[in-house]
Amino acid sequence: MSNKIVIRDCRIVDVSQDIDSSGDIIIENNKVLDLVVHKPGLKPDYADFEVVEASGFMAMPGFIDIHTHLREPGFEHKETIATGTLAAIKGGFTSVCPMPNTNPVNDNPTVTTFIIKRAMKRGSCNVYPIGAITKGQNGEELAEMGMMLEAGCVAFSDDGKPVMNALVMKRALEYSKVFGVPLISHCEDMSLTAMGVMNEGYLATLLGLEGIPRSSEELIVSRDIMLAGYAGARLHIAHVSTRGSVDIIRRAKASGVQVTAETCPHYFTITEDAVKGYNTDAKVNPPLRCAEDIEAIKEGLRDGTIDVIATDHAPHHADEKVLEFDRAPSGISGLETALSLSLRLVDEGVLTYSDLCKKISYEPSKIFGIGKGTLKKGACADITIIDTKKEFIVSKSKLLSKGKNTPFEGMNLMGMPVAVVVKGKYINVLEL
Ligand code: DOR
Repeated sequence: MSNKIVIRDCRIVDVSQDIDSSGDIIIENNKVLDLVVHKPGLKPDYADFEVVEASGFMAMPGFIDIHTHLREPGFEHKETIATGTLAAIKGGFTSVCPMPNTNPVNDNPTVTTFIIKRAMKRGSCNVYPIGAITKGQNGEELAEMGMMLEAGCVAFSDDGKPVMNALVMKRALEYSKVFGVPLISHCEDMSLTAMGVMNEGYLATLLGLEGIPRSSEELIVSRDIMLAGYAGARLHIAHVSTRGSVDIIRRAKASGVQVTAETCPHYFTITEDAVKGYNTDAKVNPPLRCAEDIEAIKEGLRDGTIDVIATDHAPHHADEKVLEFDRAPSGISGLETALSLSLRLVDEGVLTYSDLCKKISYEPSKIFGIGKGTLKKGACADITIIDTKKEFIVSKSKLLSKGKNTPFEGMNLMGMPVAVVVKGKYINVLEL
């Protein structure tokens, strides 16, 4: 395709400019040249441009997933940078931020550079790595954040594990403050999680499975908020799953702590009931909770307590998920269902399309300083084009991710990406 493209006659939703109107997006090279909002009688002529007719579709600044597991290096049987980024664009994400729990762990600039170079060579979308907080994610010695930032990391996390030692977390927050980047906390008190594999409660007892109490998450949410407040540092809470966490974060924000938070589509869509039948595709950490948690998470999204919708795309090999429930790894393959599940929130009146744009593009960019999430003139041309009315049934066999571990198999969903533009390159995702 040419380097001069017009996405014509779509509904443009761009919260960064407070736009929700029909119009045309003009792209030249890899940048947004202009947005033409339609006015009666105005019919611009785009003689030199390749025109993509998009009437009936919606366009937003490209989605950014700040919580993805691409598994490379080390776990290529679960996912690779090539397959994970292909799944990302299929799901409408033009940028992803891979977590550091690879092998070797992304705790030094060599691994960061490897990921970036591999993504440039084999990736389908932009990749902004997240470095580890501690060496080897062992929770003991701080990793070289400065060097990893120089190599291209955008934030730090030991995701998959908490930083259990409060002194280490305090020092990590103080250190990250020097660079002004957020630390992402995987909130889990391992002494409370112990051998737990699903939400603690009646169902866990019935199934004979060890439970993970909500307090396992909430204690570390509280602790890290206190430490961030003390250090004056930026904290981002990963994968919020409980009503209590939403309350704690809401109060912390009101008191001025620099805290942001994300949740994932599975935490506002399904409950622990999905585990019935020992369904390992519904085994995830933190675990799926209950209806009251879903309600609180929706309210948190609605009132801005939860800033971001992220996927926590955690692909695993089918041979690993076929194990007994307590032996199977935690994780849900999320990139290719996130948009459709999030659109249900618009349908339910929890979010507007502009809110969705904010939570899946604008805020992720702002929090991680990525400089995207907008269709302003001169911005990088990263765009997601959606058919909000297209219905489909989730099918593992159609996922482009190597990870087929979705608990949404067979679910009827509405709304899917039809195309993306990544750095000015138009990709019809329906042909992937
Ligand atoms: O369910 C999860 N899977 N939660 C995490 O925090 C890590 C992730 C993984 O890496 O598989």
